[in-house]
Amino acid sequence: MQTLSNMLERLPMKETHRLGIPILPGGLPLVGHAPFNLGDSLNFLRGASAKVGPIFWMRSFGSEMQLVCMGEPGFELLKNRVTSSEFIRDQSPEFIGDALLSQDGTRHRNLRSPMSGPFTPRGLSSSGASALSAEVIEASVASLPASGPFSLLTETQKFALDIIFRVMGIDRSEINDFNTNYREFILGAFPLKLDLPYSPRWRARRGRAWLDARFSSLIAAARGRPEMPGTLSALLAVRDAEGQPLKDDDLISNLRLLALAGHETSASVMAWMGIVLAQRPDLWEKLREEATAAPGLPRSPEELKRHPFAEALFREVLRIYPPVSATAREATEDLTLHGKLVPKGTMITIPLGTYGYDPAIYPEPEKFDPSRWMGRRVPPSAIETAPFGGGPHFCLGYHLAWVEAVQFATAFARELSRRGVRPLLAPGVAPPKLRYLPFGQPPKKTLIEFVPVV
Ligand code: HEM
Repeated sequence: MQTLSNMLERLPMKETHRLGIPILPGGLPLVGHAPFNLGDSLNFLRGASAKVGPIFWMRSFGSEMQLVCMGEPGFELLKNRVTSSEFIRDQSPEFIGDALLSQDGTRHRNLRSPMSGPFTPRGLSSSGASALSAEVIEASVASLPASGPFSLLTETQKFALDIIFRVMGIDRSEINDFNTNYREFILGAFPLKLDLPYSPRWRARRGRAWLDARFSSLIAAARGRPEMPGTLSALLAVRDAEGQPLKDDDLISNLRLLALAGHETSASVMAWMGIVLAQRPDLWEKLREEATAAPGLPRSPEELKRHPFAEALFREVLRIYPPVSATAREATEDLTLHGKLVPKGTMITIPLGTYGYDPAIYPEPEKFDPSRWMGRRVPPSAIETAPFGGGPHFCLGYHLAWVEAVQFATAFARELSRRGVRPLLAPGVAPPKLRYLPFGQPPKKTLIEFVPVV
């Protein structure tokens, strides 16, 4: 693809700039730069800005123009003072619809403030969510195959979904039905117009209807059981600024969003952790020492302090392999970005994943080195948590993702030590490359195996 892109760049282009901002050369007819941006998004965006500078137009499907704004000015846009996320509702009505991610201003604040409580470190502890997640992770890691190469991503995808549903407070007996219908629902992520019986769109709608009906009866049941552990119960207990409980419609659309936002991303991070450890015996040894010295898995955010190396591994995996390469905002007024005038209504891509490769923040940014996160006295800065976004839409599940990842790394090291084995890439498997489909993940064919420690 890159070779094709290089050839296309040499073809004469009619328009090289728009509004004084360069148009990235090398787009294909009809699909523009989308094929290059889709698979290898992170390198594509980094390479493009190295070629044409920190602000440029790229063409997406239908040759529609999209502005890319790198660096601090791009990061600033996440604050949504001069930009908005509301376009997501029209762009993706059935899939995201009217939920936190597609709301702004007072509407967003009125829902986000009460919803945040259960996802703070204290909320995760008091609702029992972090303890539930430890329980699911411990059991899932214990059920990993004893021998034979297997795809770790396939496994982490299964248990990341189990975690998010169990953490909500859904009973173990219902998890399989939830997982099946959720898999149908996410077929709606493909922008296909065809709507015949059994088409992906039809199946997505059927999955969504099942989920919504079950969420609705769970909400009704949970209202009568305030002692029920998990985030759903905690969400039912919160009150907005007027002292009112959250409305069922808001709860349902956001429970769907929680499952979506909190599943593929976390699954990817856990899979990368295992895959990195399978290639780096030095890191494996450090993690094993820390994990086996601990009395067990951390069961609350407070207990994460005992696991500094597992946390460093989590942060370095996110930096090198960010699951979300970019997000977008719509300009709500005329803006000046990198000295260029950008009109109101422009769609702007903010390349979240590229901030982790800034050499001014991370010396030798290409090097995977968890020690850069060790021994720090201050929490990570806003730019250091860029893989989770920024501004009012900063990831609601940040603390949960952090807890899950440390629990996974600790459970993985403890379980494998108990078995007397360590992870290794399966014979003939090459070190994997990050691919976006649309979340950044290792390829499913990256198989690992467990080998005896000699
Ligand atoms: C490593 C794992 C994760 C990563 C990298 C990640 C990344 C992100 C990013 C980049 C955004 C902002 C999108 C934007 O501004 O356009 C976001 C928002 C969000 N995330 Fe996560 N996420 C992760 C895990 C989770 C988990 C576990 C949950 C579930 C609790 C979750 C729930 C959400 C929600 C609800 C939002 C929307 C917040 C709002 O619009 O106010 N995420 N996430």
